[in-house]
Amino acid sequence: MKFFIDTASLTQIQEAKDLGILDGVTTNPSLMAKEGISGDSNILNHYRLICDIVDGDVSAEVIATDFEGMVEEGRRLAGLAPNIVVKVPMIKEGIKAISYFTEHGIRTNCTLVFSAAQAILAAKAGATYLSPFVGRVDDINWDGMGLIREIAEIYAIQGYDTEILAASIRNSRHIVEAAKAGADVVTCPLSAIYGMLSHPLTDLGLEKFLADHRKANA
Ligand code: E4P
Repeated sequence: MKFFIDTASLTQIQEAKDLGILDGVTTNPSLMAKEGISGDSNILNHYRLICDIVDGDVSAEVIATDFEGMVEEGRRLAGLAPNIVVKVPMIKEGIKAISYFTEHGIRTNCTLVFSAAQAILAAKAGATYLSPFVGRVDDINWDGMGLIREIAEIYAIQGYDTEILAASIRNSRHIVEAAKAGADVVTCPLSAIYGMLSHPLTDLGLEKFLADHRKANA
């Protein structure tokens, strides 16, 4: 399973890269706004900076919601760097745009996916990645991880190439469950990645090893 970080923070992207486990980045308009990035040229420049840090795929989301606007914006984003993946919302015009990008060799990430039916449509349109939002499904008391399982089963039966990118991940447990459910990629905040590191027995064990070493070498 590939690991993407879900942020537009250059510091956090660099921090995750330094762990040596980073395969890519996903962003969205809210994450860009959180970093205070606004205005067309600043946004484009910020994507260039992210692509300079990361070798793997970087999802850059279109703002347009009409077909022509998405195509124009997506082409501009894809031209920034070879590792840019154009992120397109799961709406009617979005599916048309994904089909267009597929035909023209531009890779896509279909975002805001909340059902298996949407997942089938995105795969038929040729999306490179599909982003089901696990945490937001859980937020309405539905089964976010069940959705990943259902899509993984359908994609395996149908032989779709679209990669399942488990998104809206909130904690390290979600990452483990996504791996079990058959996600190809997980995109998560840095806090969830760090959450994977921690276990009280690791801390206690290390403390004891170091104390014994100090005693023996006093
Ligand atoms: C996906 O690519 C989105 O950026 C993301 O995972 C949204 O997650 P949220 O529900 O934490 O905003």
